[in-house]
Amino acid sequence: MRLRKMYILGAWVIINCLCLIRAELYTAITDLEDLLDTEAMFMETLNRYIQREEKKLERLKRKAEEYKKEHSLASADVSEYLSNPINAYLLVKRLTTDWTTTESLMTDQTALDDAQHNFTEIKRFMKFPTDEDLTGAAAALIRLQDTYNMDTSSLAQGELMGVKYTTQLSASDCFELGRQSYNSLDYRHTVLWMTEALARQEAETRLSSNKTETPKWEILEYLAYSTYMEGDVKSALDMTNELLQIYPDHERAQGNKVYYLKALEKKTDSVNTGENVTEGHKEEKEIQDAPLGKGPTERELYEMACRGNLTPPVEITSQLTCYYSSSSPFARLARLKVEEAYPKPRILLFRDVMYDSEIEIIKRLATPRLRRATVQNFKTGQLETANYRISKSAWLNEEDDPIVSRVSRRVEDMTGLTTKTAEELQVVNYGIGGHYEPHLDFARKEETNAFKSLGTGNRIATVLFYMSDVAQGGATVFPGLQLALWPQKGTAAVWMNLLANGNGDFSTRHAACPVLAGSKWVSNKWLHELGQEILRPCSLDPSE
Ligand SMILES: *[C@@H]1O[C@H](CO)[C@@H](O)[C@H](O)[C@H]1NC(C)=O
Ligand SMILES: *[C@@H]1O[C@H](CO)[C@@H](O)[C@H](O)[C@H]1NC(C)=O
Ligand SMILES: *[C@@H]1O[C@H](CO)[C@@H](O)[C@H](O)[C@H]1NC(C)=O
Repeated sequence: MRLRKMYILGAWVIINCLCLIRAELYTAITDLEDLLDTEAMFMETLNRYIQREEKKLERLKRKAEEYKKEHSLASADVSEYLSNPINAYLLVKRLTTDWTTTESLMTDQTALDDAQHNFTEIKRFMKFPTDEDLTGAAAALIRLQDTYNMDTSSLAQGELMGVKYTTQLSASDCFELGRQSYNSLDYRHTVLWMTEALARQEAETRLSSNKTETPKWEILEYLAYSTYMEGDVKSALDMTNELLQIYPDHERAQGNKVYYLKALEKKTDSVNTGENVTEGHKEEKEIQDAPLGKGPTERELYEMACRGNLTPPVEITSQLTCYYSSSSPFARLARLKVEEAYPKPRILLFRDVMYDSEIEIIKRLATPRLRRATVQNFKTGQLETANYRISKSAWLNEEDDPIVSRVSRRVEDMTGLTTKTAEELQVVNYGIGGHYEPHLDFARKEETNAFKSLGTGNRIATVLFYMSDVAQGGATVFPGLQLALWPQKGTAAVWMNLLANGNGDFSTRHAACPVLAGSKWVSNKWLHELGQEILRPCSLDPSE
């Protein structure tokens, strides 16, 4: 057993060393799977440590029994016992060498040192999350809460948009989410999560499980300050008073109390003098966010579409058809099943165009190469990471595997366009809350540096293969079209990014909604303008 594990640790060293340069494990589910292996090794080390300490305690107990037996024998009749020279010798020996051995057994830390050393090794050689991962994972949960409009208490009870999962959040889990929000100066979510932490803590204490690790006063401290920052001075004061009842000597709370009292006094004055009041802040913001009759913002449309609350008008959906494609000899043979998802811009769904066996191979090829996805800075043309795109991606070349060229041929059959000037196949895995906010695939006129190095012109078309189903969330949405495409394994979505005259089609602005449950895999093929002239002659009519 031990040998096998050592071997596994050795193997990890080779496989993983290179991937450890950047952590960002939270950005893809495949990386999180590896964390379970890390946890398993931690557990094994802990168990081995416990066993060794237990053995040590057993030996100490046996020693104690021996001493007790001898000692009571001696105490029964001290002079009789010590009149025996052997007993006299043994007493002296016990107190010198024996007790020294016992003491060194007691203070022996080799088991602890060994365990600590192994923990360090595991952290070095196995995938291990950083503080950045914790922040990222917390931000992802909060993003999901906002996008899918989920209330804190249901979320803490493991309910995701009406679906009940078994995992629940404890008071200290909620506290941690609140603390993370607080550190990002997000007081609104701090209040939500700390309130939940308080409720959970009270429930946990009632059940007398005594499992709560976070003291109530600490929750109250965060809650009071964030409540104040959100503009509710009165409640902040009440919470601080409650805190001081539990912990009268808390210095910061005493200071804050004075401060809140002053703020309250000032507020009463300022109502009369017409000065700005902190409390008005929140309401103002709510009014700003409201549509005010101007129609919803893109953000609101995006979130509504992600939640499945938005569909294109009936005038549009009633025009949509399904058919078998016959655009190429292959398509006629294979009878590609095509569904129109939108008429203009034309968005097509090709059903069953990627087989499960192909998907498995593509995922296997891509997994070791997955890196945090980047976006292009349109001024410099440089690639950089961004919070609005959270996923991991890898590029596959046609030389990597015959499957990759087979996918290119299929793209040609589907679109009637050439893939000679296309980019490599991009494979993407989205983790918890992984998303890509509304964006365009083509480069705009001012983005002169985009795709320059490729020398193949702009991205004329996008082919997006869904390589997994997604249990909840993860739709591809076109906010402007009120359209949501729900991932279905083996389906590909296809649209043209450029109008026939070569100008970009801004109605193709789309986004990947945060994944709520499941692991989302997709792959993209972006086709470029060069080489398509005969296949799709350009038109000078700007309306086309
Ligand atoms: C630490 O690792 C070594 C080598 O893999 C192993 O022999 C030892 O039992 C481990 N100790 C603990 C406490 O896990
Ligand atoms: C929980 O803690 C309280 C007070 O500290 C104590 O009275 C109670 O016995 C504990 N309950 C359990 C189950 O340990
Ligand atoms: C009013 O608002 C301004 C700007 O936000 C701030 O600098 C000022 O201190 C505020 N006055 C009071 C009395 O809160």
